[in-house]
Amino acid sequence: MTLLEELSRIVGEAFASAALDPQLGRVTAADRPDLAQFQCNGALAAAKAAKQNPRALADKISETLRANPIFQEIAVAGPGFINIKLTDAYIAERVSQAIGDGRFGGWLHPSPEKIVIDYGGPNVAKPLHVGHLRAAIIGECLKRLFRFTGDQVVGDVHLGDWGLQMGQLISELQLRQPDLVYFDSGAKGPFPAEPPIGLTDLEEMYPAASAACKEDPARADLARKATKELQDGRPGYRALWRHFVDLSVAAMKRDYADLQVEFDLWKGEADADPLIPELAEDLQKRGVLEFSDGAQIVRVERPDDKKEMPPIIFRNSEGAVGYHATDIATIVDRQRSEHPDRILYVVDARQRLHFEQVFRAAEKAGYFEEARLEHLWFGTMNGKDGKPFKTREGGTLKLRHFIDMVTEKAAERLAESGFAEGYSAEETAGIARKVGVAALKFADLSNPRTSDYIFDLDRFMAFEGKTGPYLLYASVRVRSVLAKAEAAGAGGPGPVHITAPEERDLALSLLAFGEAVRDAYQKRLPHLLCDQAYGLAQAFSKFYAACRIVDEENMTARKSRLNLTAAAGGQLDQILDLLGIEAPNRM
Ligand code: ARG
Repeated sequence: MTLLEELSRIVGEAFASAALDPQLGRVTAADRPDLAQFQCNGALAAAKAAKQNPRALADKISETLRANPIFQEIAVAGPGFINIKLTDAYIAERVSQAIGDGRFGGWLHPSPEKIVIDYGGPNVAKPLHVGHLRAAIIGECLKRLFRFTGDQVVGDVHLGDWGLQMGQLISELQLRQPDLVYFDSGAKGPFPAEPPIGLTDLEEMYPAASAACKEDPARADLARKATKELQDGRPGYRALWRHFVDLSVAAMKRDYADLQVEFDLWKGEADADPLIPELAEDLQKRGVLEFSDGAQIVRVERPDDKKEMPPIIFRNSEGAVGYHATDIATIVDRQRSEHPDRILYVVDARQRLHFEQVFRAAEKAGYFEEARLEHLWFGTMNGKDGKPFKTREGGTLKLRHFIDMVTEKAAERLAESGFAEGYSAEETAGIARKVGVAALKFADLSNPRTSDYIFDLDRFMAFEGKTGPYLLYASVRVRSVLAKAEAAGAGGPGPVHITAPEERDLALSLLAFGEAVRDAYQKRLPHLLCDQAYGLAQAFSKFYAACRIVDEENMTARKSRLNLTAAAGGQLDQILDLLGIEAPNRM
């Protein structure tokens, strides 16, 4: 149980003993930390329901609570707020428990689930945009958080590998190198194992092909035809498709690794394609599929809809399947291979309508309960002009360039601030990458998921304030205190004793982790973990400034402080790991 859950249980019992609803005993962190640590406002609602005087009720409940030795002080304030302070002994006991449980008091899911998280969603050969960057960062964090609470989680990148861009590429290569064996109309394979082009060619070919198709309808027709033939299974095209996917995936894996993002599954839209004929038949049998102007559609509108809810097009009039059908088939594919309780989609806010339609269709067809499909959408990372972030050249973002850019900035900052002085060039470069990536990821995650935010590298990279570099610095500092203690033979950690206010605040901050994990999990909001990390780093910093640690003469106090220091460092590193941020050993 988290500390707040435990306190709510105790105060709830006091409500129950006064014949009041125990739910009203809910305890929260105090609004005024100068007056109390925790508070309960339930007496006001209870008084209203029981038509009694709230202050009198609060007094009565307080009387019961005062008999409990864990409370240092129970006071009634204003119209009937109950203010709570815990004894130092109880705080110390709770912190010791949290330190001993191997998870720093982090909340555990009482009924763990099997979860598939669909995040990343990059497209083969097409450049990534900021939406993909945020999907990767937020999705990775949620995956780690869910795993930490005990859920069994499978992360799937869900590659965009089946759309028109594949036909554009194939037709482009055919125009450039018509003699390749892949284009022999009768060729059945086997085809060469080595790709006919490299990654650089591939990356150059896509924008060229896409521009040509926009300009010239005849060229666009070639691309559409190639897409259809690919999807119908033409062997040479399938072989080329495999090469394109492999080249692209190898590059993506490198970029994602630099961002500390890793997927369990590298499946894609193409993996769902074989299910389409079967599903079309099934949907028809269930009476869900309708025909309209030669297309096959599924209606998803409902009588109480406030906005327009267009039907999904399962197959268009040319017989091609699109994004909707692929997503429905992917749900069925996941159902069969993973048997998840829930599927989470970490995808851009611009796709909200798409997912609403898909989820409704899945429910209507009886494939998956709508309430267990969640679109965890997010806002946009904007440039200083308030529009979606673009690179300096005005183009869409390339992950590689982006990582290089933040790394360069971090290197500059490190040099200015005198960090990493005298380290080898290799170590310095490694630190710069970690600091750069930490700055970017923390800035992204610390904004509420659903808000837009402005990309401001100077602000993200500051060593003071609520930033990634500040937290890395805090983590490194804890490690250096512990190393110093070790080198000085200062003794190991010992039982926690609280005397100084800074020790108490640090302990309370450590204890807030349980709740932070639970809230972040239940609301699917990573920024709550960022708030916890920042609060903890600040509490440690005040503790460090006010209390002697390694050179404290009183052995009991020294050992207790070493224990608190190790706990702060351990919890901070745990949160950084949940955020998907890697800390350097020193900086
Ligand atoms: N590839 C898609 C895009 O770039 C994102 C895929 C998201 N996942 C999904 N199941 N639709 O927009």
